Amino acid sequence: MGLMISPIHIFPNKQKLAQAVAGQSIDMLRQSIAAHGNAIWVLAGGSTPDAAYQIIADQYLKAVDWSKVTFIMGDERIAPLDSPDSNWHIAHQLLLQYIPQATLLRPISDQPAEVAAAQYNAVLNTLPKTNNGYPRFDLVWLGMGEDGHTLSLFPGHSDAGQNDHLVIPVHDSPKPPGDRITLAYQALAGAGQCMIMVTGSSKAAAVKQVQAGADLPIVTAARIPKNTVWYLDEAAGKGV
Ligand code: 6PG
Repeated sequence: MGLMISPIHIFPNKQKLAQAVAGQSIDMLRQSIAAHGNAIWVLAGGSTPDAAYQIIADQYLKAVDWSKVTFIMGDERIAPLDSPDSNWHIAHQLLLQYIPQATLLRPISDQPAEVAAAQYNAVLNTLPKTNNGYPRFDLVWLGMGEDGHTLSLFPGHSDAGQNDHLVIPVHDSPKPPGDRITLAYQALAGAGQCMIMVTGSSKAAAVKQVQAGADLPIVTAARIPKNTVWYLDEAAGKGV
């Protein structure tokens, strides 16, 4: 095993992984609502979470008092709001449109990245904070790119320069589109449960690098929340 970050769950395929992530996420939301009276969920961009979003929309709409759940997006591309490049647009199509009673804190991501980042930074600063002064993100979903990036934090692109912001602009994303906003690492300092979802053979090399202790954004991010669990399908976890 030996992953730098564990525990880790490996599933035969993406659908089984999505089923587990969906069910465990619903449990986390209900625990947060019981503990705090509400739950804050940081959604993941990219395509990996699609199946889990769909499963929640299909099977769990009645499992949670969604009026007590606040949704935010961990990172967002600068694009028209109805663009297929918009992470929020995808999550809205698959899940959010079915739970209008939730608090949907969408980034204004059809603005220049500096404007969108400043606006979202201000929004996140209004959220309940943990005793270390960071927003209480009860549940955080993260994906991982083939290069070990997560959110829109890419290898070799430091966010250190903006270390007093929760949300920062990105202009040179190696993964198109180039302009984005993203949570900075320290924004995860108030995170409770983090679920990292990695599927597909294209990610297997990066998973091996994580296992070998490489200094990758996903490893830096994974260490910050109180509790991080990795969910891999067999294709991504080959050789783990
Ligand atoms: C984004 C995502 C990004 C994503 C990974 C994995 O906006 O692109 O936030 O960090 O999670 O690139 O993407 P896939 O799930 O599509 O492989």
